[in-house]
Amino acid sequence: MNKTWWKEAVIYQIYPRSFMDSNGDGIGDLQGIVSRLDYLKYLGIDVIWLSPVYQSPNDDNGYDISDYQAIMDEFGTMEDFDELLAKAHDRGIRIVMDLVVNHTSDEHKWFLESKKSKDNPYRDYYIWREGQNEQAPPNNWGSCFGGSAWQYDEATSMYYLHLFSKKQPDLNWDNKEVRQSVYDMMTWWCEKGIDGFRMDVISMISKTSEMPDGKAEGLYGDFGPYCIHGPNVHKYLQEMNETVLSKYDIMTVGETAGVTTELAKQYAGEDARELNMVFQFEHVEGNGKYGKWTDQKMPLTMLKKTLSRWQRELHGKAWNSLFWDNHDQPRAVSRFGDDRPMFREISAKMLATCLHMLQGTPYIYQGEELGMTNYPFQSPDDFRDIESINAYSQWCANGPLSHEEFWPCITAKSRDNARTPMQWDDTENAGFTTGTPWISVNPNYKEINAKAETSDPDSVFHYYKKLIALRRENPVMIYGSYEPLLEDSEELFVYTRTLDLEKLLTVCNFSDKEASFTIPYEFVGAGCLISNTENTYDKAEITLRPYEAFVLKI
Ligand code: GLC
Ligand code: CA
Repeated sequence: MNKTWWKEAVIYQIYPRSFMDSNGDGIGDLQGIVSRLDYLKYLGIDVIWLSPVYQSPNDDNGYDISDYQAIMDEFGTMEDFDELLAKAHDRGIRIVMDLVVNHTSDEHKWFLESKKSKDNPYRDYYIWREGQNEQAPPNNWGSCFGGSAWQYDEATSMYYLHLFSKKQPDLNWDNKEVRQSVYDMMTWWCEKGIDGFRMDVISMISKTSEMPDGKAEGLYGDFGPYCIHGPNVHKYLQEMNETVLSKYDIMTVGETAGVTTELAKQYAGEDARELNMVFQFEHVEGNGKYGKWTDQKMPLTMLKKTLSRWQRELHGKAWNSLFWDNHDQPRAVSRFGDDRPMFREISAKMLATCLHMLQGTPYIYQGEELGMTNYPFQSPDDFRDIESINAYSQWCANGPLSHEEFWPCITAKSRDNARTPMQWDDTENAGFTTGTPWISVNPNYKEINAKAETSDPDSVFHYYKKLIALRRENPVMIYGSYEPLLEDSEELFVYTRTLDLEKLLTVCNFSDKEASFTIPYEFVGAGCLISNTENTYDKAEITLRPYEAFVLKI
């Protein structure tokens, strides 16, 4: 297996809107990030993944881009960006940009041209179709944010495709000019000195030319088989690699919803010449009551089965990302751990141990290193996210479910859980802003904040810091092979990693009860690399505390 810096790195994801506000308008910005670089340096991360900072009307908080080569006014200027990049580099921190090129904003100049007339030079930049008749769109596909995936446009009496909101029209990647425009833009950023791209929904860029109705679930049909891992996706990524990526020492990660381990070897195979790694969702998907909306926890055996399959099948062949949460997911500790006060810290540390000891590149989502929790939503008015707002309307206000049925599901999964402001200290608004924050601060900021945790050696923060440092000293954490133990246990997640003569045993109790465990013979008496509690591991029969985690090394 090739050794590369991006396999050895730890990534920290910043959602700029919610990270740090420097000018009191209630919205996080680039100077805010600059002011917190020393915090990130102290934590020890190697790379920042910056969620989109480009010019955008913010229908989907920056994932709807109207100019790829300008900075969103609310976030600052291109000079601020250059300063951020330089100051990050001064500290040895790389910056990976979010690349959102499955779609643009409907306010992008390409789209403004495209919709003008059928013979506009930009017409073919997007996916236009005639309706079936005056009232009906070309097919029954539903969009990810609710409603039809087609929007009627009066100027030319045709429909355009949008797999997300109607303000996010899909680009037509079959048009060579579209691809070249995207590559030119990417090259421009690479020449500026950025260190890579996180590619938004990149598995959706190629669509089939036939667009039949999809299998209907409720009102709308599924576009999946026609738009995800479409016919030319690998061809286009290879072309992108050859034209842009291969010319720079950068890192690329593809957001690839619905990817299988087989497909991952194509997207991110060691010799595939497409992307460096995939970002897959199998372990955070599934068992939905109403689509993605559910308050049910995934059984541990199922979670382990999924993660173990990814570990085994990619080893030596392709590279994966490791994450529990991001800006689209609820908070890790609330979802996979236990955010009740007596278990919050220990279970957050347990989850960190479990993830950082696996093979892949770990991602920390802002605030995860503090054990930040889900938000206690009181009413639908608390939502800011287009997906949550539309889902509530579609399923509940204008749909089949009662508020009582749907409320526990939407509050458990809403993306806004992850988007409340970063909790810096115990002053008003958690030190995020001196103004009124664009989204409410979690009321638990007085207990959970960076100031308190950086000064407490036993905090979740310091535990993450320690895990990051261990990665530098233990190549087995990065390159070792994986073997699961106790696969049928609903309480314990146990596995080994092996590299030459080095061997690690990771044991994590995912339950709020004590659990007994027999340390395998070869590890009895081995040194303890890290543990989230005070326990001794020098005899075979041990009792783990609720949410205990430890790693032994021989
Ligand atoms: C990705 C992003 C998500 C966004 C969507 C549309 O899934 O992570 O935040 O809403 O793509 O761009
Ligand atoms: Ca601001």
